[in-house]
Amino acid sequence: MRKKITIAIDGFSSTGKSTIAKLIAKKYNYIYVDSGAMYRAVTLFAKQNNFVGKEFLYEEKLISKLKEISLSFKFNEKLGFAEMFLNGKNVEKEIRTLAISQLVSKVATISEVRKKLVAEQHKMGNKSGVVMDGRDIGTVVFPNAELKLFMTASADKRATRRYKELIDRGDNVSFKDILFNVKERDRIDSTREDSPLLKADDAIEIDNSDMGIQEQFERICTLIDRKVKES
Ligand code: CDP
Ligand code: CDP
Repeated sequence: MRKKITIAIDGFSSTGKSTIAKLIAKKYNYIYVDSGAMYRAVTLFAKQNNFVGKEFLYEEKLISKLKEISLSFKFNEKLGFAEMFLNGKNVEKEIRTLAISQLVSKVATISEVRKKLVAEQHKMGNKSGVVMDGRDIGTVVFPNAELKLFMTASADKRATRRYKELIDRGDNVSFKDILFNVKERDRIDSTREDSPLLKADDAIEIDNSDMGIQEQFERICTLIDRKVKES
């Protein structure tokens, strides 16, 4: 049997991390963990309880309720990937809205939130044969991952991709707001004190500004196959 490895995919928003991670999980029969979905679900909880809004963040209130947050992924056979559940409710659609994207980076600066989610990510990925994507996977969550990828693309390309995705699913959003959000999240994620978005020293950087999903996937499969052979 082929050896299974741990694959960490980090990078900026809308660089194809989750699309590629799902394809990898399917092809190699790996577990896929979308760590961003977990930060989004905590943000939804905070929003529902009025702990976070555009102009405010009540950190202490959210921290005191963290124990009440239960997150789980359930595989949806029809969709071919796992959906996010918050306290037993499927929140997959709700967590992908622009409203959540506009608050999530603020919530992700809170160390207590990160501590809780990193502990859960460790549990989910404690066996090999895992592909996890996010912002701190190769630097903090799995610093010993055999393969680390760091995805980048121009902000304009990324906003165009995200805009198309949200319009296609029927959300009423403007390109200007999406572009602003992409840049603002880059700024907050890269400058926060706890676990900022950074390329790990041993990560392979892939700029996919001018690369389609298929080309990006094939390149990554070559890297995985090489790594599996070596290890
Ligand atoms: O899919 P997209 O790149 O837009 O975002 P995501 O992966 O769903 O992550 C949403 C947000 O969660 C990011 O902008 C970060 O603020 C936060 N996040 C994080 O801090 N650490 C992670 N490992 C994953 C996400
Ligand atoms: O997970 P992340 O936010 O990095 O990106 P994603 O959700 O996988 O991709 C965001 C959108 O960009 C999706 O609609 C992808 O199909 C699209 N995409 C693309 O068109 N070309 C790429 N090379 C990468 C992503």
